[in-house]
Parts: sequence; C-alpha cells; structure tokens
Amino acid sequence: MNILGIETSCDETGVAVYSTERGLVAHALHSQVDLHAVYGGVVPEIASRDHLRRLLPLIQNVLAEAGIERPDAIAHTAGPGLVGALMVGGGMASGLSLAWDCPLVAIHHMEGHLLAPMLEDEPPAYPFLALLVSGGHSMLIAVRGLGQYQLLGTTLDDAVGEAFDKTAKLLGLGYPGGPALQKLAESGDDSAYALPRPMLGKPTLDFSFSGLKTAVMLEVRKAEADGELEAKKADIAASFQRAAVDSLVGKALQAAKREGLERIVISGGVGANTLLRSEMSARFDGDVYYPRLAFCTDNGAMIAIAGALRLADAGTAETIRAQARWSLDSLDVPQAS
Ligand code: KG4
Ligand code: ZN
Repeated sequence: MNILGIETSCDETGVAVYSTERGLVAHALHSQVDLHAVYGGVVPEIASRDHLRRLLPLIQNVLAEAGIERPDAIAHTAGPGLVGALMVGGGMASGLSLAWDCPLVAIHHMEGHLLAPMLEDEPPAYPFLALLVSGGHSMLIAVRGLGQYQLLGTTLDDAVGEAFDKTAKLLGLGYPGGPALQKLAESGDDSAYALPRPMLGKPTLDFSFSGLKTAVMLEVRKAEADGELEAKKADIAASFQRAAVDSLVGKALQAAKREGLERIVISGGVGANTLLRSEMSARFDGDVYYPRLAFCTDNGAMIAIAGALRLADAGTAETIRAQARWSLDSLDVPQAS
C-alpha cells in the first residue's frame, strides 16, 4: 500500500509517499522560511496562502517520483497548528480522497514527530521515552505503543525552540534562530555565563524556559551597555545552548529512570541540535534514537508513516479535520493493537 502524507501545520509544506512494502519512496518539502523571515516569525495568513500555492505541484512530484498515479490512502496533519494552514492541507487531502475514492487518516502533528524515527533502518521498539522538542512544544512522553501516550511533563511557559528563536533574535541572528544559534555557539565558551537551569533541582518532570530567556536578555543588555555585545555574542549563544540542553537532558534522564524506560527518542525541530544529541547519547545508559536531520523539523514523511501505522483507523472523507489545539494523550489506541 502507498500512503500519501501531507503536512501543512505551520510554515513547511511537506509531502511524501510511504509504501508498506518498500518504505519511504518519495518526499518533498517547501520551506516558507524566507517569506516569514522579514516579519521575525510566522504570519498565519501568508502561511495558508503559500501552502495553497505549493501543495498540488509537490503532490504531483512525489507521486511521479514514487512511480504511482494515485495513492491507496492519504494521511494529513489535522492539528495542532495554525488552523488556516491545517485547513489547506486537510481540504486538499479530503478532496483528493473523495476523487480517488481512498481512505483518509487525520494525524496528530506531534504523533508524526514521535513516530519519525520509525522511518530509520533501526527503529526503536516500544516502550520508549519521547522527548518532543519543537518551536511550539517541549514534552516528555512515555510511549507504550501506538496511541498509548502518557504525558509525563511539559513546559510551564515557553517551548524550548521558542527560547532558541527568541535568544537568536536578541543576538541579531534572524528567524528561525535554532540552527544559526547552534552555529554561533561553536565558537563560544559555554561556561562564560552562569545561566539558570530552571526546574532541574525539582522532582517534577516539567520544563520552564522563560527564566533562562530573561537571564539571557539581561546579559545581552549588559554587554550592549558595555559596548561588548559583538565580542560576547558567541559566548552568550554557547552558554544559552548549554543551559537549555542541560535542562532537556537532565529532565529526560529523570523521566527515563522514574518510568524504567531503556530507550529515548528525541524528535521535533530542536532534536536537530547536535549538542543535545551528543549529550543525551553520552549521559544516557540506554539507547537513543533520532530521526535523520531532515525529518527532525516538519516534514511529510513522518505524517505518511504515521498514516501507514494508523491505517486501520482510517475514516471517510466527509469532513475536514483541522484543530488548532489537540492534546497528544487524548489519542485513540488502534483497535488492532
Ligand atoms: O518541529 P519544527 O520544525 O516546527 C514546530 O513544530 O515547531 O521545529 C522548529 C523549531 C524552531 O524553534 C527552530 O529554531 C528549532 O526547531 N531548531 C533548532 C535547530 N534546528 C531547528 N533548535 C536548536 N538547534 C537546532 N539545530
Ligand atoms: Zn513540528
């Protein structure tokens, strides 16, 4: 069976074809980053319009690459995300499933991130701990099977990707800031500034990043007032990245120990961070799994494989599903499992 995956929850138009026999056979992505960069963040209306422009040609490309005329099922991101952007992907998926008379599967965006490592040659077995870290989420989830997601901890304020983006903005690095901040940090001293590791000393598995963000802002202002900002930028970036990674790794280790989980999956945009990857692998006794770098950030392949795994739950295309807010631990467990 060939499943077409469609992702349009934010500012990336991602499509892919996953074959239950051949694995991932085609994927394509169009990033809107340049369109939004001038505004310093994603503008929802611009995002929706660009998805509309890009989606159909991208779908035609992946079907051609996969060597098929039509898929056997369509999976699309139904939320959480920007509701207009979701409606474009959902509307297209729904229309095509009616035209092609094939089933439609509505996928939770974070379930897509969580299942992205299943696209790799050595996928994790259940159960595992998932650290889902993106621009909108920072979550620790005990995953005991498909749809069996227990939220162990989340952020009390900013998502970690948001903290990366805001810190990058303070340092004049543009949007999105994560990759640029990581690059700048390479030439900095990560012990130059003593920044807080919020929540690390507490038993809760929740994160908090707003205190870290404020501490960085104060250091930036001070360096600016001293006329030293240019010279200190790399040290600030490195110290921030180290503090954020310490918080993520520290809480993930606490969660794995508490739940007795021997595998950790890191996924979502911040999962592309090389320091996070190396620190987790160095400090965790068990196995750590990641999607390949291209599938850490938003993409259609993770939606296609989630669709393939959930095919038993496929419904009809009579309604378009798009929900801005949707909690991951409210998902159904497939009847087959
Ligand atoms: O998963 P994603 O593409 O979109 C959301 O669902 O939010 O994640 C985007 C986030 C942005 O905040 C971006 O700055 C961050 O992931 N990011 C990184 C890196 N690459 C992307 N953060 C830190 N280091 C990176 N290398
Ligand atoms: Zn995402």
